[in-house]
Amino acid sequence: EKAGYEHFMMKEIQEQPKAVLDTLNSVIKDGQIDLSELGLDEEEIRKISQIYVVACGSAYHVGVAAQYVIEDLARIPVRVELASEFRYRKPILDPNGLVIIISQSGETADSLAALREAKSKGIRTLAIVNVVGSSIAREADNVFYTLAGPEISVATTKAYSTQLIAAYCLAVQFALTRGEITEEYYTELIAEMQTIPDKIRKVLADKERIQWFAAKQANAKDIFFIGRGLDYAISLEGSLKMKEISYIHSEAYAAGELKHGTISLLEDNTLVIGVLTQADLYEKTLSNMVECKSRGAYLCAVTSYGNYSMEDTADFVTYIPKTDAHFATSLAVIPLQLMGYYVSVAKGLDVDKPRNLAKSVTVE
Ligand code: F6R
Repeated sequence: EKAGYEHFMMKEIQEQPKAVLDTLNSVIKDGQIDLSELGLDEEEIRKISQIYVVACGSAYHVGVAAQYVIEDLARIPVRVELASEFRYRKPILDPNGLVIIISQSGETADSLAALREAKSKGIRTLAIVNVVGSSIAREADNVFYTLAGPEISVATTKAYSTQLIAAYCLAVQFALTRGEITEEYYTELIAEMQTIPDKIRKVLADKERIQWFAAKQANAKDIFFIGRGLDYAISLEGSLKMKEISYIHSEAYAAGELKHGTISLLEDNTLVIGVLTQADLYEKTLSNMVECKSRGAYLCAVTSYGNYSMEDTADFVTYIPKTDAHFATSLAVIPLQLMGYYVSVAKGLDVDKPRNLAKSVTVE
């Protein structure tokens, strides 16, 4: 079952290039994204006035990334909400809006209730789901299936990665249809998306270095993840991976928020992991890292090849291949998944079945 791997989580981490490729291939036909099976024709795409992305946990973190990518490319306003909040706050929904529910299992109670809430208001719903025939898949108006295959490990990895791909495809196609990007850039974006599987493979090839680093962090009490823009979205996911399987308290902060609170928590050798994939925000986050260092923090950075000056500041640097900034999340998340995994292994914990957690949360 585990195909020679010690844990399902590692098997699923390694399956990501294929899961991403399969998901891309399911919607890219002759170099174009084809959303016709989702029932979204051009007319309808042009009409969307507002998008609401609603989900729980890691799927919510995909929503945070989707917000940046959809707003930047397609220029449609996006709200991202936790399903457990959305369902009870009597949401005010734009009748020309689109509600996107993201769920691996398709059975998460709060996400299902949020879907029903949206449907009861007559808003169009689209579900990004991995499990065929699940409740959310059956009840949503349309379904974008991620082709991650069965995910056994409680901590999601490959489903998360395929959900990101689904979000990119929607963003890119909406952007073209609404005239927000040129045909030329559209073609480039699709070609770039098709390089993601190989680039993920490249990051995975560096796993021993991350294992070495992670093993040294097994006694950490607190870990802070910081980033700006999409790098903040990745930080949220990196932090969740770390806390759920390694039982180390960890938090993700928008780097600019540090001095509004968190920085007082830094002590000598507190681990701070900075994510710096967005060129336009690089200097800003770097200066936040320098501030952390001067308060004694031990610094790890995830950044793109080429940013070698990072080694002047950070104690440990892990590099990801260059890609279009909108897609960097897909690469930067890999070292963070590996860190969570290897810290958990180093602590001798039950990686695939962390205490108190269930794979599918069917109660609220
Ligand atoms: C974290 C994790 C959870 C799920 C969340 C939603 O690794 O797996 O946070 O993302 O419980 O589950 P689904 O996607 O099945 O709705």
